[in-house]
Order: sequence, then C-alpha cells, then structure tokens
Amino acid sequence: MTAEYGPWGIVAGGSDGVGAAFARAMAARGINLVLVARREPVLKETADAIRARHGVRVRTLALDLSEPDAPAALAEATADLEIGLFVHNVGGDDSTTAFLDRDLESHLRMVRRNCVSALDAVHRFGAPMAARGHGGVVLVTSGAAWAGGATRATYGATKAFGLVLAESLWAEWHGRGVDVLALVLGRTDTPSFHRVFGAEGLAPGDLADPDEVAEAALTHLGDGPTWIYGSADPTGGSPLGALSRRDAVLAMNPR
Ligand SMILES: NC(=O)c1ccc[n+]([C@@H]2O[C@H](COP(=O)([O-])OP(=O)(O)OC[C@H]3O[C@@H](n4cnc5c(N)ncnc54)[C@H](OP(=O)(O)O)[C@@H]3O)[C@@H](O)[C@H]2O)c1
Repeated sequence: MTAEYGPWGIVAGGSDGVGAAFARAMAARGINLVLVARREPVLKETADAIRARHGVRVRTLALDLSEPDAPAALAEATADLEIGLFVHNVGGDDSTTAFLDRDLESHLRMVRRNCVSALDAVHRFGAPMAARGHGGVVLVTSGAAWAGGATRATYGATKAFGLVLAESLWAEWHGRGVDVLALVLGRTDTPSFHRVFGAEGLAPGDLADPDEVAEAALTHLGDGPTWIYGSADPTGGSPLGALSRRDAVLAMNPR
C-alpha cells in the first residue's frame, strides 16, 4: 500500500467522522498523514490516537478550506512531502435551508470548500502522481449528486462537481497508474450528520459506519471510477437513472 499510495497521504476534513476513519485506515496501511480541519483540539486528539496506535507520522493543519487562501496554505504546509494519496472528505452541508434563505457568501464558502479546494489539490498533487506513475485520489461525494433537490441546491451541485471531476480524472489517469474514486455516500454516522439532523428533529434511520466506509473505499480504490457505498451494485449507475429528470428531482425533494 505504501509503495502504491505512500509515503504520505492527505485527508482534507480528517479530524472526525468519515475523514478520521480514512485517517485510521490509511495509517493501518503504513501511510503517514496530513490531517486538515478547522478545530485544533479535535485534530490533535485524532492525530495523537493514530500515532499511538499505528506509529506513523501525523502532521495536523488547522485550516478553513472555505477561505480563498486555503489551497495555498495546504500547498505550503506539504511542500516537503511526497503525497501518494489524497482524500477530499470535507463537504457536508451544515443545514437544510432554502436557497434564498442563505446569504450568497455562505454558498460561495461551500463552493470554495467543496469544489475549489478539491480542484486545486487534485491538480497540485495529481501532477506528481501521474509523473511517478502511481498514487490515489478519493473525492467523497453524496447521493445528493444524482439530481437536484429543494434545500440542497449548492450542496448537491458541489457534490455533482466532485462526482464528475473524479470520474473525469479516472478517465484520464487510470491507464497511468493513478487510481481515482468518486465515493458516493448515503446517510453516515458522523458528528456532522447528527448536528444537522438533530437540529432538524429528524429520525436518522439506518446509518453507515464510517470505519466500514473508509475500509471499503481503500479496498476498492482501484475499482473506480465510482463506488456507491451500501448499494447492492456499488459500481452501478444512479439509483434514479430510470426516472425522468423531473421525477428524479421530485424524488429528491425531502418534503
Ligand atoms: N454524513 C452523512 O450522512 C453523509 C451523507 C452523504 C455524503 N456525505 C459526505 O461525506 C463527507 C463527510 O461528511 P461528514 O458527515 O463527516 O461531515 P463534514 O462536515 O463534511 O466533515 C467533517 C470533517 O471535515 C472538517 N471540516 C468541516 N468544515 C471544514 C472546513 N471549512 N475546512 C476544513 N475542514 C472542515 C471537520 O472538522 P472541523 O469541523 O474541525 O473543521 C471534520 O474533520 C462529506 O463530503 C459529505 O458530503 C456524508
């Protein structure tokens, strides 16, 4: 694993939930880590636990990926490292609010966090991977990418961006030794999920386990372009694919 995807990996959004699970799963495979998130205490706790358990090196970077200068800060903090695996996990929506009830800046922050930071990173870290002829990229996306839906306009659009970006990079790089996976998630048991759904007073239903998600993604990193976690046909198409676009949008509407 380290020969193919090491010696260092980055998890953007790597301090809790699915991101921390990726970090643990990568460390268990001997990959040194750069973990990026905003809250330093959570980052530190996750990093300390991984160092103690797996003995790999872990660098933490407290950074808000919604900020315009975040990609440059990530580049500077990792300039001395050979990055063999990049996971863009950060990307959840922190509320289910109608489009016009959010100010424009909050939409732009989500686009910078979910799209611009991912695009910058795959360009920056993908180039040396392609030149070396090995490496891996995982972009974590969502069933929200399948079709538009009320209260998730920008979130769904950014998730569709990640899905198509990953699939496109797979199309360009799979013959060059670089594995790319669009990881499509449904409801998953993370702190962010509980913050949002708890605030909404909604029943969570069946939730995927983050550690099982991360294990599946790393196991199937070479089975891209797309892995739909929890699906009976994980490399298959959109579950809404048989519907008209109109019916798919109506099916996505949570109300
Ligand atoms: N959970 C679900 O039910 C679900 C369903 C479908 C898809 N997904 C996808 O799975 C991925 C992970 O979701 P998640 O539920 O774990 O929540 P998340 O909020 O996307 O990810 C949490 C991680 O990202 C960090 N983070 C959040 N905002 C950040 C920012 N602006 N800059 C840097 N780091 C940031 C968090 O730490 P800090 O808060 O300290 O920054 C934490 O480490 C997302 O891409 C989401 O779209 C999740």
